[in-house]
Amino acid sequence: MRDCFEKKRTPFYYYDTELLAETLAAIKRETDKHEGWHLHYAVKACANAKVLQQIQRSGFGADCVSGGEIRACLKNGFRPDDIVFAGVGKADWEITTALESGIGYFNVESIPELGVISDIATNMNKVANVCFRINPDVGAHTHAGITTGLAENKFGIAKEDMIDVIRLSHRLPNIRFVGLHFHIGSQILEMDDFEALCHRINELQDQLEAAGIREVSCINVGGGLGIDYEHPDDAPVPDFKSYFETYAKYLKLRPHQHLHFELGRAVVGQCGSLITRLLYVKQATKKQFAIVDAGMTDLIRPALYGAHHHIENLSSNSPQQLYDIVGPVCESSDTFAKDFPLAEAKRGDLLAIRSAGAYGEIMASQYNCRELPVGYTTEDFLSSSEDMPTADTE
Ligand code: LLP
Repeated sequence: MRDCFEKKRTPFYYYDTELLAETLAAIKRETDKHEGWHLHYAVKACANAKVLQQIQRSGFGADCVSGGEIRACLKNGFRPDDIVFAGVGKADWEITTALESGIGYFNVESIPELGVISDIATNMNKVANVCFRINPDVGAHTHAGITTGLAENKFGIAKEDMIDVIRLSHRLPNIRFVGLHFHIGSQILEMDDFEALCHRINELQDQLEAAGIREVSCINVGGGLGIDYEHPDDAPVPDFKSYFETYAKYLKLRPHQHLHFELGRAVVGQCGSLITRLLYVKQATKKQFAIVDAGMTDLIRPALYGAHHHIENLSSNSPQQLYDIVGPVCESSDTFAKDFPLAEAKRGDLLAIRSAGAYGEIMASQYNCRELPVGYTTEDFLSSSEDMPTADTE
């Protein structure tokens, strides 16, 4: 691939669609074992059109959190009824867009939001299917910035209010209550966390039945399965077997209930790399800097969360040296890694910042008036070299 990469202007994202196909097949293998299990891919992880199309063709639905994501999904072939729509701050136009397109259901996060969806649906003479997002107050072993299922987080409706809100929805003729939605956080590698969510859902289902509420047709457990950022090649396809088996073992689904998942990172994370070129090696008093042409504008995770991404020098097999690998943006936090061992690097070398398929390209910004990175897939490199855009033609 390196020779093909050489012909493109850097930085760019590269999506390995063969690995994506393997990953999607592994998910299907597990979910197909159970009737009524279905994955809505969390579009927020990566909305690259070719990636979306491949996911849609593999038979998955979509979890959207904005009108923009709904539009991107419709444009890339997703069936409207295979789209679910979550988010704490849905704007009126987004609710209207969702109702006009006939999405599967809304994941409703508050009572005021329920009122607005009801009003808009009434005006449009439509019925809105809703799941209530319940805050399960279950912690997850992950970065504080990406836990969502604790009572202190802004997401969802307190579990103590669950029955009242369902009863309220029964009184709204343009609202159809279909189920419950949960999500405890992201980059979770301990199956115990998902097990704890299962136990909480079992408790809540018991409470509902005790209150005479039996029409829960859908349980949506969100996403959150993590990937191995340290060793991206050890198990490039995440351990879906353990993840799905945890739900099969601990969640007590009632007959005819559907189980929905919203994985994002585990679907696309390992398939994507940010390819960047080394501009300068700068020797400083205490450090050796590898200054590359990608910056925090292209991949913000290290700057925002202190996230680790494995980095490799695709152009050198020389013995390793330690580098601080930094971008060109005028911020000290524009640092991809500190004291990172990299094959001895020189100007012009191509570096791959790995495990960047999720929350990479989609979180890019134009700070410093930088251009947004382009995303290429394996197919873009399989076409003949004459067809390939070069640095001059892009
Ligand atoms: N469902 C809901 C309601 C969510 O909020 C999220 C992620 C997902 C599903 C998908 O979670 P996943 O399977 O990808 O873990 N930008 C951060 C991650 C933020 C995740 C936000 N919600 C990062 O770069 O690590």
